[in-house]
Amino acid sequence: MSPARLANDAAPPSPRRARRRLKDSHEVVSGLQSARIMARAWAESIDDRKRQQAAWAFIKAAIDEYARELAHRSRVMIVVTAPSIALTYQLDAAAIELARTVGHEAAQLDIEQACYQVSATYTVLVPTGTRSAFGMYYTPPTLTDRLLNMAAEAGIDWKTARVLDPACGGGAFLLPVALRMRHALAERPPAEQFKSITTRLQGFEIDPFAAWLTQTWLEIALADLRAATGKDLPPLIQVCDTLEQEPNGKLFDLVIGNPPYGRVSLTPAQRTRFARSLFGHANLYGVFTDIALRWTKLKGVIAYVTPTSFLAGEYFKALRSLLAAEAPPVAVDFIEARRGVFEDVLQEALLATYRRRGKAIGTAVHYLAVASDMAAEITHAGCFNVPATPAAPWLAPRLPTHQRLIDRLAAMPYRLGDWGYQVSTGPLVWNRYKRQLRARPGADTFPLIWAEAVTPGLFAHRADKRNHEPYFRIEGPADDWLKVSVPCVLVQRTTAKEQPRRLIAAELPASFIRKHRAVVVENHLNMVRPINGKTHVTPAALAAVLNSGVVDEAFRCISGSVAVSAFELEALPLPSPAAMRAVDALLAGGAVPEMIESQIRALYFEEIFA
Ligand SMILES: C[S@@+](CC[C@H](N)C(=O)[O-])C[C@H]1O[C@@H](n2cnc3c(N)ncnc32)[C@H](O)[C@@H]1O
Repeated sequence: MSPARLANDAAPPSPRRARRRLKDSHEVVSGLQSARIMARAWAESIDDRKRQQAAWAFIKAAIDEYARELAHRSRVMIVVTAPSIALTYQLDAAAIELARTVGHEAAQLDIEQACYQVSATYTVLVPTGTRSAFGMYYTPPTLTDRLLNMAAEAGIDWKTARVLDPACGGGAFLLPVALRMRHALAERPPAEQFKSITTRLQGFEIDPFAAWLTQTWLEIALADLRAATGKDLPPLIQVCDTLEQEPNGKLFDLVIGNPPYGRVSLTPAQRTRFARSLFGHANLYGVFTDIALRWTKLKGVIAYVTPTSFLAGEYFKALRSLLAAEAPPVAVDFIEARRGVFEDVLQEALLATYRRRGKAIGTAVHYLAVASDMAAEITHAGCFNVPATPAAPWLAPRLPTHQRLIDRLAAMPYRLGDWGYQVSTGPLVWNRYKRQLRARPGADTFPLIWAEAVTPGLFAHRADKRNHEPYFRIEGPADDWLKVSVPCVLVQRTTAKEQPRRLIAAELPASFIRKHRAVVVENHLNMVRPINGKTHVTPAALAAVLNSGVVDEAFRCISGSVAVSAFELEALPLPSPAAMRAVDALLAGGAVPEMIESQIRALYFEEIFA
């Protein structure tokens, strides 16, 4: 059995054998997950200055054992080139045994799963600071497999495509790409296969040990071709900072990967270079998306795993405009991962393909439910179009039930600005003003409004939570900017998608403001305020719309993060002010909530927004 055949069996096994093999694999994977926990505990006991070296030594020992065991099973000579970095850490006997167990067990899995299990172990061993600075969160095979299928659906031909992973980590993408290339060329002589594959693959990686890992997995996957041709693998991975690489030769048919993410401080030269995709704070994954466009040839494909935040966030509006013009999305999969599937990752993520200078036609959307490292289920959710103003949020159906709403929203031209409102965040960052919080009213004190005061449709002045006080003392004219004296609608700024509502709004009653002259609003609330005193819809009707089920669904199609931002609220499609009179009439008449809800629903789903 060749190493590649461990991954891509030519003849499918019988269903019974396949089930048994899967069950065995599940057991091996769960054993490796336990070993990972033990290895992490071992690494955490090591001084941070030595931990990086210890991680390298541990993983090298695991890989050596893996290669030994695999060579034994497959009867193929497997030579692993030593890393160019010096390995100086001496593992003790217990660590050597654990590392060898990881390698030995991994050899029972197909090579992609083995690669993930060993490489993921590496990421939990390195110092925590290094892991988060580099964004070392590797992609499980269920996702790489799906993204490769999406790339193929977008037209990538594994027989001929040149492929780059600009942040290749431990080889999560380049390894399965090599296997697919092999599979596509299976009829060709070994020398031709070897040459074709090794001249079409490239990786960039800042971490030299991860770069060595990728090169090693490729060496293992192509071991039989190496043996047949007597050739060594050329260096396929460049150790470098991808932000500093400029394309200087042939571009790629496919740029694929899971780029690092997180805020990054760019040098002035980098800010200038990436200016076309930046607005405010730079996020690494946005910069890597811009980079992918530069390295992909015309009509080529970009296939990336990224957080979902670029679809709607204000900081990504320049990137959205760039993508719309340069590489519109072909397909998107929203990932719904069971807790713990992406070890240590909290952000909501998606898989997407984009075609460089492709036509912006409807983007197909799927919903990918990932149950484990090994199993995922795909459901078609619908499609969406990039809006005519691409800097605006891209509204996409997250569930099949969203499609009708998405189509309606795309035809609704009104926004909060057309109703005469704008959104700002509550000005008080309380822990900068702790001294001025008061338990009781007094001279120059004003009610302090915390997020807890706002429940759906109901405002109640309260401060029950820890560290909260109900009043705030204004200490002079310099504090006046903290006072709010116009009636407005308050909306909670942080809500998770697991909560029954993402939008939680209540009118701050005019009578309350009149009674206290002004209030101070804390920073976890948004304030939806009249732009210049003149509005076309009452605050009560506005609050009712924001609290309605249909608008909550609409907001879920805009935002996947926990933030309810001013930018996203101002982008919400709304009925016309004229149509809203019906809602006002119901509110004035004391209608029950169900009637109001159904009226608002009708405004979204019926043709009455002239
Ligand atoms: C999210 S991981 C993904 C790795 C791999 N593609 C995968 O999917 O498993 C991001 C990778 O980017 C690398 N990286 C971070 N900053 C980089 C930079 N400026 N240049 C090159 N690689 C970088 C990290 O070391 C890490 O391996």
